[in-house]
Amino acid sequence: MTLGFDVLHELEATKTEEVTKQGNGELEKVNKLVEEFLQMKIPRNAEILDVAAGSGILSVMLQSQGYCHIDSLDEDVEAVNEQRKLNLYRNYIHRSVKGMRSTGLESDIYDVVITAGGFAKDAINPLDITELLRILRPEGHLLWTMRAAQEERSTEFGLLNANLRGLEKMGKIKIVKHQAFIDFEATHPGEFYLVKRLPGELPYFANMEVTSNLKQQIQHLLKDCTEKSQVIRFYDEWSSKYEEDLVMVGNYSGHTKCVEAFLELGLKRSVSILDLACGTGLLGEETVKNGYVNIDGLDASIQMLSQARNKNIYKEHILAVVHGVGSLPLVDDAYDVIMSSNGFAPGQIYPEALDEIVRILRPGGYFIFTMRDGLADACPKFMGFQTELDDLEKNNKIEIVIGPLVFEKFVLDHPGVFYMIRKSAQLHLAYNNSPAASP
Ligand SMILES: C[S@@+](CC[C@H](N)C(=O)[O-])C[C@H]1O[C@@H](n2cnc3c(N)ncnc32)[C@H](O)[C@@H]1O
Repeated sequence: MTLGFDVLHELEATKTEEVTKQGNGELEKVNKLVEEFLQMKIPRNAEILDVAAGSGILSVMLQSQGYCHIDSLDEDVEAVNEQRKLNLYRNYIHRSVKGMRSTGLESDIYDVVITAGGFAKDAINPLDITELLRILRPEGHLLWTMRAAQEERSTEFGLLNANLRGLEKMGKIKIVKHQAFIDFEATHPGEFYLVKRLPGELPYFANMEVTSNLKQQIQHLLKDCTEKSQVIRFYDEWSSKYEEDLVMVGNYSGHTKCVEAFLELGLKRSVSILDLACGTGLLGEETVKNGYVNIDGLDASIQMLSQARNKNIYKEHILAVVHGVGSLPLVDDAYDVIMSSNGFAPGQIYPEALDEIVRILRPGGYFIFTMRDGLADACPKFMGFQTELDDLEKNNKIEIVIGPLVFEKFVLDHPGVFYMIRKSAQLHLAYNNSPAASP
């Protein structure tokens, strides 16, 4: 792929016309990206991947500036054939970016991954940024332009910034630049992002052991049934939906048990926490009261979530249903700690969600939860709960730090079960070592 100056000049004119005809501010997305790319002063021999390459205009523009190691990736076979016919790229990868290793490429091979409009509701899901980061060399750059996130009206785009900040906190990326722009007719707002890939790091507490003394202390604390000085009064807060979902009347203690155990770990106030199946925000409130304010709430019910929103506890309110792997609009390893009180129950969260919960937990991070005791007798789907946890432990994905620990008075006189799970620190950057094909 070495196109002459005249050919490039001609192609630039035809491709510009082609993309202008597409409308929707497509040309501005390309122009903004090229402008930003050139400002970075990347060496001419850089290895570049143009994702969702489409017309191939980016390659034409970058080649005109002396870049020649440019590969294309596109799921549209016709687009790829047309690019090939015009000899626009060095390699042509006909793939969809959908999940880890979906590109079929080796890890750490590109200096730059670039996409104009590739992240879109009907194209690449922004959660798949992790796959694009995987194929970048450490210190390499991922830059893209897209329609403004709010225009996409999807949870994944709504959470894009929060997810990127989470990746930054984990030391996986640095957000170098984020800028809004608009097309010439001022009708199509767009966003530009430039992120640098970093090696990623474990949370500071990943190698801190939960000592047997601490385990005993937590177990003792949770089994302690002496009346708490502050009895949780919650009746006024239940929405009619809540009452339908699960009847909880009495001195419900599921959330306080989780938070009490969490506090015993003595983690820094800055750790990122998810309250999974947060409901009206009882667990979140308890957590925030103790100074841990970096907490998001996730629930499947919009009514419950809106009650929680009124309390102003959570940073993000995530409306989502957790079930199998990939069900949540969150990047891998997103939280240091996940807590869930009474989320696991028939008709609510089933054991099949365990893998997904582990996916969004940071290696070395904690998953602390309570549920009603005896669910296995009430619902066949819960019969294999302990076996599923044991299997995850056998496969070195988790460590069961504490549990099953039965405690009294989860709700009224019914006992509850407590677990503290830890995601294996060995899963840190595990994907980087996995084999895959070259372009
Ligand atoms: C019994 S309430 C518990 C609420 C809160 N954790 C508490 O302790 O008060 C169960 C909550 O789980 C939510 N829920 C049920 N199934 C869910 C799912 N698959 N994913 C996310 N949330 C779910 C319900 O909307 C409800 O708010």
